Amino acid sequence: MTLLEVDGLSVHFSRRKPLFSRAAAVVRAVDTVSFQIAEGQTFGILGASGCGKSTIAQALLGLVPVTAGAIRLHGRPLDMARDHRAIQIVFQDPQTSFNPRRRIWELIAEPLAIAGERDRRALKRKAEELAAKVGVGEHQLERFPHEFSGGQRQRLAIARALAIGPRLLVLDEPTSALDVSVQAQVLNLLLQLQREFKVAFLFISHDVAVIRHICDELAVMKSGKFVETGRAADVLAAPRHPYTQALMNAAPTLTGPAFREQCEEPMA
Ligand SMILES: Nc1ncnc2c1ncn2[C@@H]1O[C@H](COP(=O)(O)OP(=O)(O)OP(=O)(O)O)[C@@H](O)[C@H]1O
Ligand SMILES: [Mg+2]
Repeated sequence: MTLLEVDGLSVHFSRRKPLFSRAAAVVRAVDTVSFQIAEGQTFGILGASGCGKSTIAQALLGLVPVTAGAIRLHGRPLDMARDHRAIQIVFQDPQTSFNPRRRIWELIAEPLAIAGERDRRALKRKAEELAAKVGVGEHQLERFPHEFSGGQRQRLAIARALAIGPRLLVLDEPTSALDVSVQAQVLNLLLQLQREFKVAFLFISHDVAVIRHICDELAVMKSGKFVETGRAADVLAAPRHPYTQALMNAAPTLTGPAFREQCEEPMA
């Protein structure tokens, strides 16, 4: 069943008028992009820096004004006032999204507290449950964010994003800041959690190997547009667009045996 439909989405930003120019420059960060995400499936957006990937994520979350197009969730126009529990996001670096003065259990439970849960014991119990699912033990939950490694912090950010039972998790380069071996562990954790929570992913990355490992469907993005879409395995096995081919040739950083081995290892 279709969870999310994005139809002709455009997000344009106006840049400050260049000197001697009459017209204000417009940045077409996202330019008539359409896609669908099925319940519980992973849709990947693959593209180089600046192509507009994060702007799509921000548009879904209502963080940037949409210039044109429609976004529907379960067939109804997306309304973040009503649907804010359904879509959650994980950013590249949770360092910046975690309040450094809060204990980890408070941060994991924060979405539940915002949703109205006031009982601290209940919040803490829920945080323990979620932390266990991402492989972080109860005894670590009184600690502060800086006491964790990058990989652990990203696991904790995922736990927090799952706290209120979203239908869609937007993952914006969630493993790009991590070492290769840690990256593989976090990707495998995501695959496992997806099965357990039956949550769909919008997975944003510039890394072909990461996209190949985790996505069902895929769009290749260039300068605000999707140049190629399809089943991830098919597109990457036989890219039709020269840009897809170029991306695959240019960035084989994680396609080597080391990454594949890590991905096949059971989770630590
Ligand atoms: N708030 C904004 N105002 C003006 N321009 C913006 C704004 N946000 C993004 N842009 C521009 O829109 C384009 C797309 O940016 P975006 O951050 O979506 O790219 P990205 O694919 O996520 O890149 P990266 O891989 O580096 O994260 C860029 O040219 C960027 O400079
Ligand atoms: Mg980005």
